[in-house]
Amino acid sequence: MNDRLIRALKGQPVDRPPVWFMRQAGRYLPEYREVRSRVSFLELCRSPELALEVTLQPLDRFRLDAAIVFSDILPVLEAIGREISFEPGMGPRIHEPLRDRAGLATLVRPDVAVALPHVPATLKMFREARPDTPILGFAGSPFTLLCYLVEGQGSKDFKLTKRLLWEDPEAADQVLGLLADVVGDYLQSQIDAGAAAVQMFDTWAGVLSPPDWERWAGRYAARALARVKGAPRLYFTRDSSPFLSRLHQTGADAFGLDWRVDLAPAREILGQDTPIQGNLDPIALFAPPEEIKRRVHAICDAAGPTGHVFNLGHGVIPSTPIAGVEAMIEAVHERV
Ligand code: CP3
Repeated sequence: MNDRLIRALKGQPVDRPPVWFMRQAGRYLPEYREVRSRVSFLELCRSPELALEVTLQPLDRFRLDAAIVFSDILPVLEAIGREISFEPGMGPRIHEPLRDRAGLATLVRPDVAVALPHVPATLKMFREARPDTPILGFAGSPFTLLCYLVEGQGSKDFKLTKRLLWEDPEAADQVLGLLADVVGDYLQSQIDAGAAAVQMFDTWAGVLSPPDWERWAGRYAARALARVKGAPRLYFTRDSSPFLSRLHQTGADAFGLDWRVDLAPAREILGQDTPIQGNLDPIALFAPPEEIKRRVHAICDAAGPTGHVFNLGHGVIPSTPIAGVEAMIEAVHERV
């Protein structure tokens, strides 16, 4: 088994940093678009055979050190009792958004083995298909899932979510507690099915002030991660500069950082022994190959030789040139 990812996540020496990247199976790949021309996004998420096929696509094209299981963060909202849909060009929709205390009674506490079987099934198939490659499992954070549950879609200002937090904190605590327990059990089911590590995506936590991050994002990320044992647990968030010093409150083993974070000072704040992941600006993949390589080397120099997993600072975007991705991966391979 290629053990660079696990060694880096444990702070052990490696010949070069491991590399994988967020949304590595996605719309920038023609072979992904080909599968999507035949099935909807949700059908893809619900079919372990097809999910395995697209999980493998970037591994077959690039020299990557890890896969990430193909799915989405929103099926967890289905499991607690909401219908979801993806309309082309509109992003996700959550039907019957939760806006007040009355909505609480309509949520359910599922058995994750029954309600969320697809990702563990895909992971088991992956372990058979690629015994030499580690695979990450993932879930959305309780706070980021609450954002979608309350807004019913993406948002610029998360006004409805913040209103719920501040108008009825007790109701918000109940939903976040439910989400934390379900997310924790779901991540554990992925480790039990063969995930070498798991990543919690707290995409929207950066919209909170540092005290609110502690109260609403950090606290519930910690509650979820406390239920997860047996593999390294990553916490990814965007716009984390204002609360870097608080990230350890999540109890995560390693932290994914976006491109606005300077890695050398971030390591000082987090502690030199804390593994980090990141953080090339996904838009840098549109730059000339030499510029991409210069940036990859600068990130690796700032992070230092151990405890660093190379990644983008957020997901690759659909129109990204394949040549940019190739230049990025080649530059990481030059680090030996
Ligand atoms: O990283 C990977 O390759 C694994 C797969 C993965 C997807 N979504 C596939 C996907 C992961 C880890 C996610 C997480 C996810 N989903 C997050 C957190 C991470 C992040 O990017 O911040 C969030 C906020 C979502 C919710 C979501 N799903 C959005 C906002 C969208 C985009 C809607 C759009 O049309 O632009 C999705 C859809 C989605 N998830 C796609 C993929 C490949 C594109 C769907 C398609 O094929 O049409």
